[in-house]
Amino acid sequence: MTQDFQAIPLGTYDAFKDATSWDEETSRQWVDTLNRRSAASDQIQLRARLVELAALGQRDTVVEIGCGTGALLCDLARKVGPGGRIIGFEPQAAFAQAAIRRLHTAGYESVSEVLCKSAEHLPLADESAAACLAQTVLIHLPDHILHRTLREVIRVVRHGGRVISIDQDGDTWVIDHPDRELTKRIVRFNSDQRYADGWTGRRLRRYFRQAGLSSVEVHTWPHTDTDSGTYLFDMATRLAGAAADVGVITTSECNTWLAQLDEVALAGHFFSSINFYASVGIRT
Ligand SMILES: C[S@@+](CC[C@H](N)C(=O)[O-])C[C@H]1O[C@@H](n2cnc3c(N)ncnc32)[C@H](O)[C@@H]1O
Repeated sequence: MTQDFQAIPLGTYDAFKDATSWDEETSRQWVDTLNRRSAASDQIQLRARLVELAALGQRDTVVEIGCGTGALLCDLARKVGPGGRIIGFEPQAAFAQAAIRRLHTAGYESVSEVLCKSAEHLPLADESAAACLAQTVLIHLPDHILHRTLREVIRVVRHGGRVISIDQDGDTWVIDHPDRELTKRIVRFNSDQRYADGWTGRRLRRYFRQAGLSSVEVHTWPHTDTDSGTYLFDMATRLAGAAADVGVITTSECNTWLAQLDEVALAGHFFSSINFYASVGIRT
């Protein structure tokens, strides 16, 4: 017997819901996952474009909320140069430590700061930053926290500065697998349950406009993986396991689905992609 999807409230099994109380092993696994994703060539290009969209100058102060293990912080530090300032907010302690390590290793210690803190209340003055960015953070925030966080982010950005959020959309995850029906159930589990709202990507433009940002633009990037050992291969494996753990598919369905996925990958045919949507708005 499996659980009926309709009966489970959206976002019930968001992986980041309890991130601040993860044990060491779980934290380590997620640090590896974020590092693997950030090292993918699609993600390197995506970050380069985000930095461009932030329209930063040398010596600017820039804020990133939910900075994870710090890949984007380093790119931002490179952009603003030695006279600039980079401030990251990250409530998950192992992520914050990994971000600090990454910044120090890259030589950005003197221009950067990472605070182990959520972004609902930023200890920053009004209009003190040239831009604020969030990468796959808002998708994990329940509605009321998302809107409160967006207001807070807008408060700290100077007039004419940019607010940028990039989020995936759960229903754009595609994976080539021989079992279409079970794959659709796993995709739905991902979109409806593994994010506070898996449709955040398609809703960002509306949220930005409703929050009073002007000239809101949307940019779309697909992330595509064609090998095992990649971010989307790991994500598929993790999701099938999580779906079985909570009973939306059976353990036997999970094992068969994973074995078939391995066969596809062994034959060199793994294919998966997901779309990321960046909204960029100007603080009026
Ligand atoms: C999917 S991870 C993305 C991390 C990083 N931005 C990246 O792309 O690698 C989501 C991040 O949002 C952080 N987060 C969750 N709730 C938050 C909040 N209220 N304020 C700031 N960050 C939050 C999590 O701890 C986690 O690091």
